[in-house]
Amino acid sequence: MSLVIFIIMKATTRPINTSFRKLLLGDVKSLVDIETTNSEHPWSASHFSSSVDNRNTLTYGLIVEQQLIGYALALVALESADLLNIGIHPNYKRQGFGRTLLVHLLTELKQAAVNALILEVRVENHIAINFYEKQGFKGIGIREKYYSNREDAKIMKLLIP
Ligand SMILES: CC(C)(COP(=O)(O)OP(=O)(O)OC[C@H]1O[C@@H](n2cnc3c(N)ncnc32)[C@H](O)[C@@H]1OP(=O)(O)O)[C@@H](O)C(=O)NCCC(=O)NCCS
Repeated sequence: MSLVIFIIMKATTRPINTSFRKLLLGDVKSLVDIETTNSEHPWSASHFSSSVDNRNTLTYGLIVEQQLIGYALALVALESADLLNIGIHPNYKRQGFGRTLLVHLLTELKQAAVNALILEVRVENHIAINFYEKQGFKGIGIREKYYSNREDAKIMKLLIP
């Protein structure tokens, strides 16, 4: 019985074509479109442009079926890096794409001899905090009134295995 189910699933599941590439200035409009649907406090086009243009920033776009559906940007400083931003298009959330993108970033950081990834996240962003905890990040402190609306930031860190 289970063999039959397996064969039916194999025959009907459409493979998803997924790849990663460096972000380009030409992507900024798409990044802002995703970001504004995702956040009450979105990054601006100039914020994305200056990060994409910074040679110390590692950037990855996640391409699914030829569409840019996610992004991750990390600023590298010697042996550690700051995760500046990560986001997945709302239509593709909760399907493992965020995890795939983060794992890709961690693999690339490790190859660049980076051994820790640090980030700040809004204390009320429980989904992102869950997401990071699931990947093994630990809370290491709070930055009070860190954001422009005076919301606190939770600082999280992952030692890259
Ligand atoms: C955070 C974000 C990138 C996660 O991307 P995603 O593709 O939806 O996440 P995944 O499907 O890979 O989920 C991985 C894990 O994260 C956690 N998670 C993701 N979405 C969650 C939700 N809505 N509620 C609770 N936990 C959630 C779960 O532990 C999940 O594992 P599980 O599905 O096995 O339970 C996405 O929600 C997003 O773009 N949020 C808006 C932007 C943002 O807040 N970025 C962080 C800035 S600091």
